[in-house]
Amino acid sequence: MCGIIGYIGHREAAPVLLKGLQRLEYRGYDSAGVAIFANGGSRDGILVRRSVGKLTNLDRLLQDQPVHGSIGMGHTRWATHGRPSEENAHPHRAGKIVVIHNGIIENYLDLRHKLQAKGRTFNSETDTEVISHLIDDYIQQGLSFTLATRAALKQLEGAFSIVVLCEDEPGKILTAKNATPIVIGLGEHENFVASDVPALLEYTRKVTFLEDGEMAEVTREYVTLSDFQGQPIEREPRTIEWDTVTAQKSGYKHFLLKEIHEQPQAIIDTMRGRILPEESDVSLGEFDEHSELLNSIQRIALVACGTAWHACLAGKFYLEELARIPVEVDYGSEFRYRNSPLERHAAILAVSQSGETADTLAALEGGKSLGLPALAICNVVDASIPRRSDIVLYTHAGPEISVASTKAFTTQLTALYLLSVYLGRRRGVLDEGRGRQLIDDLINLPAQVQEILTKTKHIEKIAKKYGHAKDFLYLGRGVNYPIALEGALKLKEISYIHAEGYPAGEMKHGPIALIDEEMPVVVLLPKDPVYAKTLSNMKEVEARGGRIIAITDAPSPELEDIAWEVIQVPTTNHLLMPILLTIPLQLLAYYSAVYRDTDVDQPRNLAKSVTVE
Ligand code: M6R
Repeated sequence: MCGIIGYIGHREAAPVLLKGLQRLEYRGYDSAGVAIFANGGSRDGILVRRSVGKLTNLDRLLQDQPVHGSIGMGHTRWATHGRPSEENAHPHRAGKIVVIHNGIIENYLDLRHKLQAKGRTFNSETDTEVISHLIDDYIQQGLSFTLATRAALKQLEGAFSIVVLCEDEPGKILTAKNATPIVIGLGEHENFVASDVPALLEYTRKVTFLEDGEMAEVTREYVTLSDFQGQPIEREPRTIEWDTVTAQKSGYKHFLLKEIHEQPQAIIDTMRGRILPEESDVSLGEFDEHSELLNSIQRIALVACGTAWHACLAGKFYLEELARIPVEVDYGSEFRYRNSPLERHAAILAVSQSGETADTLAALEGGKSLGLPALAICNVVDASIPRRSDIVLYTHAGPEISVASTKAFTTQLTALYLLSVYLGRRRGVLDEGRGRQLIDDLINLPAQVQEILTKTKHIEKIAKKYGHAKDFLYLGRGVNYPIALEGALKLKEISYIHAEGYPAGEMKHGPIALIDEEMPVVVLLPKDPVYAKTLSNMKEVEARGGRIIAITDAPSPELEDIAWEVIQVPTTNHLLMPILLTIPLQLLAYYSAVYRDTDVDQPRNLAKSVTVE
């Protein structure tokens, strides 16, 4: 959602804030703003600059109307309350207080009415402005900056993270959070606050994550943590492994293309240290100490959103076939409000790239409240979801900046595969021979992904040929049906072409009515036990004039006759085929978006990390 950065130190704040916001722009990008203590707060107080649209507009504004000072904060917005406009852009000022905010204040209307009744005037439609008024109101009543902020925090309901400046106390930044992330970067005679780690990496890798219900007082020399009641909190800082280079474009035109090409390495990093070829086994250190618990699990509920949900749908096939554990898959937003009867011998497993998705986090909490052990597959270390889980399997895919998820997806599939082999071996479902084969196939996978990535020209041409289409249909069967869904989602979100994913066998029950000469139909056709069935479905499409784009590991003259385009991928076992089939779909979506000249890395209306309901 929104991106937050705060700085207090010895550097010029404006460039630090702008650079941090660039790294966070993927979180939201309809407007942006900064607030800086001009000249250290001695003369002009806090100056605010805000502008609608992309960050470049704010950059230009700051060139025209510079603000010099070394304490400040910045924000990129993804609108929830109030349309994108300068008035609704953050920071929001009320009296002596200036606030930036990520999340939603659920009781903001109630608070706003109460504050209006006291004679306060609001300048925006946002929920954020109530926070600045509320804190300022307490200051007017005589409370100090810290106490006023704490008093206000106790009145806020909902998910939020905030950063606050006060005209009276130029040497201090306050920050607080409940259910949306805040990380504090620790430097030498300088400190940072951000909603996400990439904003800080250039300056420090020593960080402290705030937990829900906590606030921090940040000065140049120290950071003190406390809860909303004022109880002090001690926490050891952590060191982040990622470096700035991994969070850059490295010569690629878009982060998305870079991240697609990073997949061989990302898959290797997910496997690293977890494969025991000699023993035909997988080692998941994180899980070993919970072997009793894992052996007792008789059912797993997988919860996730968007692309991660598609990974879960494929994960169901992995866990059921390799570990013989019955699996149910839910959207986070559905599970959280479903009265699930799961309890004894069940577990909940949340899958999330960011580890901050509000619906997935709430579903995990829902599972925990039923007494289920909480497992997580996550990319971002120490994000909220892993912190709230009993056992975590990190994907180690590195920072994913582009809003559309690519390497996070294939590494989530890799992690689910590893977990399934691990459980299957321990439960006696997989013998050594099968374990060996499954592991060998996984070891070969990164090179096979690389092979597809060396032949992108063909896919680029196909994208140009069909990129004008209004609708696409994606068909797949079994474990590849989720891949059809993922292919359709990728195309929709970055090229804005309407697309549907369907189980191939279901097409005749309705979607077949859509097919005509204008409709490209992408068919996932691996040489698996249902190959012949999917081929029949393809013939049904052909008979209605649909333009078939087949992706297969088994091209044949018959296939060449039916399909308008054939994309060949290497072959592997039927459970890893989804990963290989995903790569051409990502490239097709990417090149279609480039052809249609959309904003590939920051598609309209989307945000990387959806920390609101
Ligand atoms: O960070 P998460 O994996 O929890 O995010 C879940 C979805 O918001 C995310 O996958 C979204 O669907 C992406 N835009 C897909 O490309």
